[in-house]
Amino acid sequence: MKVVRMDADPSEVYRPEAGAEHGKLKTDYRNYTAGPLLDRVYNTYLLMHTHQTVDFVRKKGAEYGACAQRRMSIMEALDLLDNVVDESDPDVDFPNSYHAYQTAEGIRRAHPDKDWFQLVGLLHDMGKILALAGEPQWAVVGDTFPVGCRVQESVVFSDSTFHDNPDTENPLYNTQYGIYQPRCGLANVLMSWGHDEYMHQVMKFNNFALPQEAFYMIRFHSFYPWHTGGDYMHLCSNEDLRMLAWVKEFNKFDLYTKCEDLPDVTQLKPYYQSLIDKYCPGQLCW
Ligand SMILES: [Fe+2]
Ligand SMILES: [Fe+2]
Repeated sequence: MKVVRMDADPSEVYRPEAGAEHGKLKTDYRNYTAGPLLDRVYNTYLLMHTHQTVDFVRKKGAEYGACAQRRMSIMEALDLLDNVVDESDPDVDFPNSYHAYQTAEGIRRAHPDKDWFQLVGLLHDMGKILALAGEPQWAVVGDTFPVGCRVQESVVFSDSTFHDNPDTENPLYNTQYGIYQPRCGLANVLMSWGHDEYMHQVMKFNNFALPQEAFYMIRFHSFYPWHTGGDYMHLCSNEDLRMLAWVKEFNKFDLYTKCEDLPDVTQLKPYYQSLIDKYCPGQLCW
């Protein structure tokens, strides 16, 4: 895998001042205290924080790691996302396929020279097809967090949703480091199971010809308590800290391109098909 250097401070590259083009301020996104979708969002996190345990994460990793569920192309998977509405997302109430194109197009406008990065935008939530394979939404969507160590403050609803999680009874899992070593690296941390880790496994299994930054951004894009909350730094390696700039750069588009103005998918498809043909063609194992 090729390593790509981020030439400039990524924050210099794109300033979507407030997503203002969509008439929504930056501070209006990810509101977990009010809004029309709040009950649905809270319920999804309550279930997630009750049932995501060390044992559960290990079991799901083993179940899906062999990518033996089905075979299909990226475009077929993307079309399936027409049937997924993310119940953890306070900003979006439309199918995830549109969000894939919105994110990719935002990256394309700001990074016209990085076609692989644009493809990351298209691919990043594709793991949400798990919701169509019978997985409940709490095991697919939402922010991720490490299991096996104490939950940190910036995890959403952390003060009111973990009380029935059996891992909170295990003293091994409730210190700052828990089962981990200082600066062990996020690749060695068990993250709550969901679409990030699943898609990362699919990419590895099928040998996507993308730079390691692409793999990393997809694996940790939902780890808001880290990339936005600034928690869990004590588990990070130097490599994680270098990658953080990329994850933050990606996050701007993942978050601030969300709007009700839906893209013309038919018109965009040929361009993205050409990127798929270049980096991850054909029938893949999922
Ligand atoms: Fe996501
Ligand atoms: Fe997303």
